[in-house]
Amino acid sequence: MNKWLTVEKLSKNFGGVKALDEFSCHFEQGEVVGLIGPNGAGKTTFFNVLGGMLEADSGSAQLNKKKLTSIPAHRIANMGIARTFQKLRLIRQVSVLENVMLSFRNQSGENLVSLVIRWSKVRTQESENYDKALTILKRVGLQEKAGDLADTLSYGQQKLLTLACCIASDADLLLLDEPLAGVSPSMIEIVLEKLRELKNEGKTIVVIEHNLEAIMDDFDRVIFMDSGRKICEGKPDEIRNDPRVIEAYLK
Ligand SMILES: Nc1ncnc2c1ncn2[C@@H]1O[C@H](COP(=O)(O)OP(=O)(O)O)[C@@H](O)[C@H]1O
Ligand SMILES: [Mg+2]
Repeated sequence: MNKWLTVEKLSKNFGGVKALDEFSCHFEQGEVVGLIGPNGAGKTTFFNVLGGMLEADSGSAQLNKKKLTSIPAHRIANMGIARTFQKLRLIRQVSVLENVMLSFRNQSGENLVSLVIRWSKVRTQESENYDKALTILKRVGLQEKAGDLADTLSYGQQKLLTLACCIASDADLLLLDEPLAGVSPSMIEIVLEKLRELKNEGKTIVVIEHNLEAIMDDFDRVIFMDSGRKICEGKPDEIRNDPRVIEAYLK
């Protein structure tokens, strides 16, 4: 088994609350894994640690044998990890298209020196990025909104835009925090279709989600966590019928 991303005994405390308590897991390349568990289980904290937004107290995570823990968020992004946030983090006062363009990795314009020295290259890249961004917006069905401010989109459209930003980053690993929450049934189908496309392209996708009815069958594997710990993992059917999972969701 190719353990592409391995997480060993990650712990994170918030003033006595063990958000992660020696949490271990692994992901293989190309898998779609569901990370489920009750509110406060530590799911978002896990994404924050993997994405470099939070530093773990102890434990480690490695991607392709490269250390991920204690590495700043921008470097983790450059290693090919992208995430969406439970509370969407779009740049609301810029256009939908610009949100996507700002998500491309390794842009010449990011660096002031290269901006001055290689202005024409930057301009060429800008126009290439413009076309690329428009293609990505078409892919999620938002091309008509390209010039609108991100703020003017409906909630479901904003979620699709965050997905478009993930696609733009061309990350190999996507961490999606509740992509279906607050999304209308017709929009849910679109989001699921995009996830399937991304899986077919070989992306590894970890999804935190409560709407299990909608998404469970799209998971190759499910990890159930509670109180910062992994309680069990398995195929969707095994997890659906696990008494510990049933009890946690009924309590
Ligand atoms: N920045 C923070 N400061 C203090 N406590 C936090 C912080 N982030 C998360 N927690 C606490 O850690 C626990 C796990 O939270 P979280 O990872 O958001 O859970 P989940 O995403 O599974 O609902 C909760 O008890 C939460 O209140
Ligand atoms: Mg959460």
